[in-house]
Amino acid sequence: MRLACIGTGFVGVVTAAVFAKLGNTVVGLDIDEGKIAKLKQGIVPFFEPGLSELLVETQKTGNLTFTTSYAEAISSAEVIFIMVGTPSAPDGQADLQYVFASVEALAPHLIDGAIVVIKSTVPPGTNDKVKELIGAKTKVSFEVASVPEFLKEGTAVEDTLHPDRIILGVELGHAKETLTKLHEPLTQNFIVMKPASAQMCKYASNNYLATRITFINQIADLCEQNDADVEEVIRGMGADRRIGSHYWYPGLGYGGSCFPKDVKEIAAYAQHVGESDSLFIKIDLLNSTRIPKLMAKYDQLVGGFAGKTVAILGLSFKKNTNDTREAPAEYVISWLRAHQALVKTADPQVPADTLDPYQAATGSHVVMLLVEWDEYLKLDLTKLASVMKTPKYFIDTRNQYDPAAVSAAGLKYQGVGR
Ligand code: UGA
Repeated sequence: MRLACIGTGFVGVVTAAVFAKLGNTVVGLDIDEGKIAKLKQGIVPFFEPGLSELLVETQKTGNLTFTTSYAEAISSAEVIFIMVGTPSAPDGQADLQYVFASVEALAPHLIDGAIVVIKSTVPPGTNDKVKELIGAKTKVSFEVASVPEFLKEGTAVEDTLHPDRIILGVELGHAKETLTKLHEPLTQNFIVMKPASAQMCKYASNNYLATRITFINQIADLCEQNDADVEEVIRGMGADRRIGSHYWYPGLGYGGSCFPKDVKEIAAYAQHVGESDSLFIKIDLLNSTRIPKLMAKYDQLVGGFAGKTVAILGLSFKKNTNDTREAPAEYVISWLRAHQALVKTADPQVPADTLDPYQAATGSHVVMLLVEWDEYLKLDLTKLASVMKTPKYFIDTRNQYDPAAVSAAGLKYQGVGR
């Protein structure tokens, strides 16, 4: 099939490369000439395991090309995926300017029967506006569908090759058959629904997961008031098949470019439609206030951060990515600096001023593990203790270490909810 993929962020590049690998002819499009020049050379502008190899392979076969020209990308495409950013507007709702700009730019070049698929996260009802914008600029017949994306950064290629399901938000027409055929090599699990349901499904999934994380963080905070260990609680609760224990680690709250944005957007949407006591307003508030709340607690614990040196291990928002958007480190570091602490940092993929973990720990009074990079899971704790200064606190915000082993090495352990 001949495809055009508009937008070369995580979702755009991964989707383009995976469909090209499946044998489709794919043109990746972005208005950013610098990005396109790099992609043409096989350079991915971010760290994502397995993606560079896939990009090089699919460009070599000729299945994947890149351009900045709408005319070139759209004039032969049977299916066009829109995967541009939808940041939050100042009022918290989704800012759709990039979606609408790309729709207006592609419309004059559409071929008869083309399917425009919105993959960007957009509020229910957006397809009507998209249809109106396209219809004003072309006489050909076209369809607009919604196929939300569920890939995670750090496992994006794997998630795209093996999706749990493909949600097809389609109306009457041939989009259902065409999109099923296109995705069939990836899964047999298709769930067909109205476009608005598909869009709601994306928001609801991210908001459910964000709520689940917030829930366990709340339980963790209560565990700290007694002798309970939240990790044991998760094991016990997770054995109930209705609950499950996967994707359920407590910490400093959810970050990244999706959950904070999507919770804020659904909260703003709820306000907008008169649901002013929406749960999601509270979830957003709890997550935004979590880091300052925990930092105030750690401040007491270590006897005040002022004048102390703190080693931060992990600057990305989670492991296997160099994405620092809404990363805990961003907030933790500015909090520490505002409280007169000296900060040293380490990260295997985020370049700015980073050291190896032992160099970062040398002379530090406190080590804070913020990201569970594989490299940081087997630290030589005795060596760490030997280079640190008293009081030698090890704050494990991902609960990756055995508290007893950390204490035995001569460090003071603090996890989350244990
Ligand atoms: C998330 C969703 O998981 C994807 O399904 C979705 O496609 C994507 O957003 C999106 O909307 O584009 P992502 O932001 O890449 O993916 O990362 P996650 O692995 O889901 O983590 C999100 C945040 O939650 C991170 O800060 C992570 O540390 C935190 N988290 C996750 C927890 O604190 N506890 C958990 O148990 C899981």
